[in-house]
Amino acid sequence: MAVMLHLSLMETPPDMPVIYVITPTHMRPTQKADLTRLGNTLRQVPNLHWIVVEDAEVKSLKVTKFLLNSRIPYTHLNAPKPDYCQSGCVARGSEQRNLGMDWLRQNRGPLDSGVVYFGDDDNTYDLELFEEMRYTKQVSVWPVGLIAARWYERPLVRDGKVVGWYTGFPGRKFGTDMAGFAVNLNLILANPEARFVLKGAQSGMQESDFLSKLTKLEYLEPKANNCTKILVWHTRTESAPLYKHVKEKNVDIEA
Ligand code: UGA
Ligand code: MN
Repeated sequence: MAVMLHLSLMETPPDMPVIYVITPTHMRPTQKADLTRLGNTLRQVPNLHWIVVEDAEVKSLKVTKFLLNSRIPYTHLNAPKPDYCQSGCVARGSEQRNLGMDWLRQNRGPLDSGVVYFGDDDNTYDLELFEEMRYTKQVSVWPVGLIAARWYERPLVRDGKVVGWYTGFPGRKFGTDMAGFAVNLNLILANPEARFVLKGAQSGMQESDFLSKLTKLEYLEPKANNCTKILVWHTRTESAPLYKHVKEKNVDIEA
């Protein structure tokens, strides 16, 4: 029985939509630890394609080697943040998310079935989340834990429809974090204007601005038991200044 269960988890029916996880990542002391943790999660998800986009002029050896050994189907891309963002940007990772979507628009077509999820490298993801999002028809949504100075934010659902948001940051049409929604692949392919805006972007508005180009509140598909289950947490790794002394001088260590 146990063997059967295992097999059924591993089998991927030919019509099972692919989950495309787009992860922006940048050099920080916690990068490899974050990617290792995320890879350990994603490796267990059937029919998943990981699009890892480095915020860098060139692909790093660290991420290249990590992905080669990851045993996860992946695409490795890179794009540096624009010059006007070099000293900080209100939309971290979004140049990279746009490149991930460009790749999909160039390499996938209307006959491909899938779902696109923007999975930051330092969040924590329950495996169940991926099966919740897999059959997204247009845009699906769910709660995100540890966000906006709250234990969670979530879509408010009435009679199976999203009617508003429980959030620490009100005033947004879509009161969700990047981790709280997924978009059907064909909706992304059919709407090339759906991109994240970096220049002149207002802090905290990028998810809402992006979703406004794709859908309306009443069309959202609530997941995770009508948005009552937390399956992803906006955990953040400690900020870099804590780890100033990452490497000893003249010691060749892989960190
Ligand atoms: C929050 C949101 O959860 C992010 O989705 C959003 O992009 C970000 O704020 C923002 O709007 O700036 P937060 O934990 O504050 O996330 O941000 P990070 O985890 O530092 O960055 C989000 C993602 O972008 C990560 O995968 C990170 O590796 C990447 N990133 C960050 C870059 O690629 N370049 C950077 O310079 C900074
Ligand atoms: Mn983060």
